[in-house]
Amino acid sequence: MKINFIDLQAQYNTYKEQIDKEVLEVMSSAAFIGGEKLANFEKNLSLYTGAKHSIGCSSGTDALLLALMALDIKAGDEIITTPFTFIATAEVIALLGATSVFVDIDEKTYNIDPSKIEDAITERTKAIIPVSLYGQCADMDTINEIATRRNIVVIEDACQSFGATYKGKKSCNLSTIACTSFFPSKPLGAYGDGGAIFTSDDELAAKIKMLLNHGQNERYKHKYIGINGRLDAIQAAVLNVKLKHIDTEIKDRDFIGSRYSDLLSGCDVITPYIEDGNTSVYAQYSIRVKNRDEFIQKLSTKEVPTAIHYPLPLHLQEAFLYLGYHKGDFPISEMVANEIVSLPMSAFLSEAHQDYIIEAIKGE
Ligand SMILES: Cc1ncc(COP(=O)(O)O)c(C=O)c1O
Repeated sequence: MKINFIDLQAQYNTYKEQIDKEVLEVMSSAAFIGGEKLANFEKNLSLYTGAKHSIGCSSGTDALLLALMALDIKAGDEIITTPFTFIATAEVIALLGATSVFVDIDEKTYNIDPSKIEDAITERTKAIIPVSLYGQCADMDTINEIATRRNIVVIEDACQSFGATYKGKKSCNLSTIACTSFFPSKPLGAYGDGGAIFTSDDELAAKIKMLLNHGQNERYKHKYIGINGRLDAIQAAVLNVKLKHIDTEIKDRDFIGSRYSDLLSGCDVITPYIEDGNTSVYAQYSIRVKNRDEFIQKLSTKEVPTAIHYPLPLHLQEAFLYLGYHKGDFPISEMVANEIVSLPMSAFLSEAHQDYIIEAIKGE
């Protein structure tokens, strides 16, 4: 049985007619950068998330970079985030010469532990980047409360949580700025790289729009040092089609995620914990197992693909050794990094395939 980790082909086949039509329209209009497709997509993103401004950009990484640039983050500034995330979250902090200050995660949700944030704040702290990992929002109310009291900005790294809800509100509209990724395997995935920045602050939105277009306020007049961080029209056209279907896909992902958890109850694994008041989009369905190498090996002999998100927390990465952290500094992140493994997940995973995966896990 051939099981894909994420079934992007089944998704394309389902929406093929609409996607092909939209992409061909871009080709014949020759409006490849900006234009109507992008404007439509951005409008639909705002309708979906509730954020006043939605700004398409070149990737989730650039979305985070642009958010920090818009806040004038520079050398000497400190940004609080979690070490249990994809490197992009902290990479952009370093690229601007600022310093990542890591705070450990909660043992159940794997998101930043808000009770540990306050101890990490100094007079140099400018922002907190909570990551809404695996598709479940971080505890944004508690984080926003701390940030408001300490005069710090909150940027939600929503690269994995587009479409998730927190106390009835959508991810990407839970803090001053939010950033998401449209990397092909994300819950809302493009056919290449893409991302978006969300804010309801008019000034920040205007600045971000300039920054992603070389800091231009009009053609060849540059107010800021910016980047080429635009989302192209073909990606916007594809994403606009997929956005129409996302709620159905999220419902299916939720069904599949809950079914995994039901079928795994009684197995010696820790299934995802979804906090009351949250819905997850299961960007990953990740479980914790004790003998991970053996577990992965067993599944691989039955041709069940797995992935590890993420095997080494950021404070132990060679690239971040200069920050001076050591093994043992963030014990929960380290423990989870040793035990976590993601199972195949997409809205198109059939029950038969899921049953096969469960049998592979339960078998000898
Ligand atoms: C938590 C997190 N942050 C940032 C990114 C970066 O997004 P992109 O790959 O679109 O640059 C990702 C994507 O993998 C992510 O999962």
